[in-house]
Amino acid sequence: MNKLIVANWKMNLAPGAASLLVKRLDEKIKPDAGVEVVICPPTLDLYPLAREIDRKKFKLGAQNVHYLDEGPYTGETSPQMLRGLADYVIVGHSERRAMGETDAQVAKKLAAVVRNGLIPILCIGESLHDHEHNLASKVVVDQLTAALANLTAEEVGGIVIAYEPVWSINHGDGHVVHATPENIRFAYRAIRSTLEELYGEGGIANVRLLYGGSTDPDHCQAYLETEYVDGLLVGNASLNYESFSKIVLTAQRLEK
Ligand code: PGA
Repeated sequence: MNKLIVANWKMNLAPGAASLLVKRLDEKIKPDAGVEVVICPPTLDLYPLAREIDRKKFKLGAQNVHYLDEGPYTGETSPQMLRGLADYVIVGHSERRAMGETDAQVAKKLAAVVRNGLIPILCIGESLHDHEHNLASKVVVDQLTAALANLTAEEVGGIVIAYEPVWSINHGDGHVVHATPENIRFAYRAIRSTLEELYGEGGIANVRLLYGGSTDPDHCQAYLETEYVDGLLVGNASLNYESFSKIVLTAQRLEK
């Protein structure tokens, strides 16, 4: 399976600035069959970027979606609307869960994304409180089991799961705690055994596991070399073309 490097721009970069960043990235990054690069801009940027990006180098993803295809839901975007614009959709990011998104909504969104032929990037991970109380594996298993409630074994095959220890996410205050490879392996073991229990060995064969806690050009290699890590979900460092392209180039170098 090829590696996957996903940029989550969060609520940053209006269309003009988004185009500029993609142009800069385009100069630095060469197409590479071993590493897929996905940019998840704000929804507003998806349409212009879908027309501008070089699809041999970049794919697009949305950061959120509604679980219905249409209806009276002010301010929402449906999975049907994303078809043709995005390939991936981030579902259940901890920042959305912190705003009230429930496990049941995450499960419906995941199924809606798959139903519409898009690839979900399901985010799961424990808070600082859970981490300090040794609840990481329980939280990860509970969130995963709840999220997969509406998926068949076949549907689960193509999804991407990002483990994001919430205590390691940069919330904009400059305070970053880097998870260790052992933290990640521990969570991945819980994820893999849950998938195996629910779906048998086939359940994990085609699922890609990303590390979604904080990373940067200095830490990405250690994460990319950690057992079972198929790629990274990058937040803050993806807003800067130098740091994001360095992360992509590191992944490309490691795949050679
Ligand atoms: P960060 O965000 O890289 O800015 O810490 C990661 C994430 O939200 O997945």
